[in-house]
Amino acid sequence: MTRAVVVRDEARGEEAGVRDQAQTTAVVTGASRGFGSAIAAALIDRGHRVVGVARTAEALADLRRELGAAFVPVVADATDAKTARTLIERHQPTLLVLNAGAMPATGPVHEQSWESFSRNWHVDTQHAFHWMRAALRHPLAPDSLVVAMSSGAALRGSPLSGGYAGAKAMIRFLASYAADESRRAALGIRFATVLPQLTPATELGAAGVAAYAERAGIDAAAFAAALEPLLTPAIVGAEIARLCGDTGNRDELRVYELTGHGLHALA
Ligand SMILES: NC(=O)c1ccc[n+]([C@@H]2O[C@H](COP(=O)([O-])OP(=O)(O)OC[C@H]3O[C@@H](n4cnc5c(N)ncnc54)[C@H](OP(=O)(O)O)[C@@H]3O)[C@@H](O)[C@H]2O)c1
Repeated sequence: MTRAVVVRDEARGEEAGVRDQAQTTAVVTGASRGFGSAIAAALIDRGHRVVGVARTAEALADLRRELGAAFVPVVADATDAKTARTLIERHQPTLLVLNAGAMPATGPVHEQSWESFSRNWHVDTQHAFHWMRAALRHPLAPDSLVVAMSSGAALRGSPLSGGYAGAKAMIRFLASYAADESRRAALGIRFATVLPQLTPATELGAAGVAAYAERAGIDAAAFAAALEPLLTPAIVGAEIARLCGDTGNRDELRVYELTGHGLHALA
């Protein structure tokens, strides 16, 4: 059974229309560009309502114009614990895609400061910590899915990105700890960690490719050629939406690599 309910447009402070109550709500962090905006678009394509969180109001407003009322922009810092709590309470999502991430400071380890080295811990890891904690404590409804964006760097290291690889490895650990707590408390909340391959198709990835190409003494295009088939935001969006739609998989914890060939489950 479904029931029509009125949806409020929070950006304009007015009613935005009517939706089917069975339509699920997803929260996507880091939705203003790159992988996050593509994930938001793909989830909306599949009929979800998406609350998109990022700090850049203009980019979120552009996305809202492109995606329509099913996209609810929220200008906020995703590393704020209160933001996580409040948005989960207000929107009751059954899908969380924890994708927000800072641009790593590029440079070899001895040229980093502790501040630059730890940047991704303060943004990527801190945000994953607050949102997973809020997901367990609220808690999300049984069968909800939390997707955490880690990185292939968590498997192989990333010597020109400060503490990025460790911060992303911690996100994978966090998801496994949270899945275990969900199981122990019989919450039925599922967790999936996704480790995308480096790609020059986003601002963050392009900076990484440029740094590693310079170190190898080749140009960025030659370096990127070794990453073919390239992972694109469109592939990321489609694959994350497919993962979110896979209601047949009841595993509490899953881990995937994500390349230009798509998702590949890790043992
Ligand atoms: N691209 C790659 O090659 C690659 C590979 C492996 C993993 N990843 C991971 O995939 C995720 C997305 O990467 P991307 O390449 O799409 O990066 P991107 O294009 O730089 O986008 C990053 C997103 O995170 C948001 N963000 C950053 N800090 C935030 C904060 N404090 N609060 C809210 N939002 C914040 C940004 O929005 P605002 O600036 O507007 O806040 C933006 O929407 C990241 O976690 C990244 O580490 C990327």
